[in-house]
Amino acid sequence: MIYPAETATLKDGNTCTIRSAASEDAARMLQYMHIMLGETRFLLRAPEEFNYTEEAEAAILAGRASDPRTLMLLAEKDGQIVACADVHSHGAKSRTWHRADLGMSVRKDYWHLGIGSALMERLIAFARAHDFEQIELEVVAANRRALNLYVKYGFEVYGTRPHGMKYEDGTYANNYMMVKTL
Ligand SMILES: CC(C)(COP(=O)(O)OP(=O)(O)OC[C@H]1O[C@@H](n2cnc3c(N)ncnc32)[C@H](O)[C@@H]1OP(=O)(O)O)[C@@H](O)C(=O)NCCC(=O)NCCS
Repeated sequence: MIYPAETATLKDGNTCTIRSAASEDAARMLQYMHIMLGETRFLLRAPEEFNYTEEAEAAILAGRASDPRTLMLLAEKDGQIVACADVHSHGAKSRTWHRADLGMSVRKDYWHLGIGSALMERLIAFARAHDFEQIELEVVAANRRALNLYVKYGFEVYGTRPHGMKYEDGTYANNYMMVKTL
């Protein structure tokens, strides 16, 4: 879905722009993903595993913008993409039609400013307005910042996935599975 640009006020009194991602964002999106993935061990991909071409990324972004049950939002600040978040249908089958999946990331220099919260509020409103009944996500159990954000918006832990991630050094992380009923 297309979400027109709007201004969000952050905790420090500055603002950022929030809008849906479009195919024209492909090059900047690739740049964002490489920086952001290098800043956290809490996401599934290592930076070198995000290796789409600009054309492939543009096609993915166009697909999300044209899907009425997907909302992919960007936050822009200082002329750069600083955050990205999306909510989309869990699948196309009728028996999971009521379920949405959510993902979110913010560049480290922009943490604690309320960008995650601003994105979350818009994704929840979108999911409610598009007949989803619950939003689901999976988060590394040690990711306190993300867990606090999710709990603040009404997500509850309903299970633990042991060894949900295995890192290059042989260590593991457990994941929590969370759900928010709309
Ligand atoms: C998790 C993440 C999205 C949060 O984004 P953010 O823009 O920093 O979040 P906000 O500033 O809106 O803070 C939201 C809440 O997080 C919690 N929080 C913020 N800073 C925190 C900290 N240092 N320690 C613990 N919790 C913290 C608070 O509950 C806060 O709500 P409050 O401001 O009302 O107290 C961001 O840190 C991030 O992208 N991390 C790396 C990628 C990632 O982990 N993504 C989630 C994968 S499941």
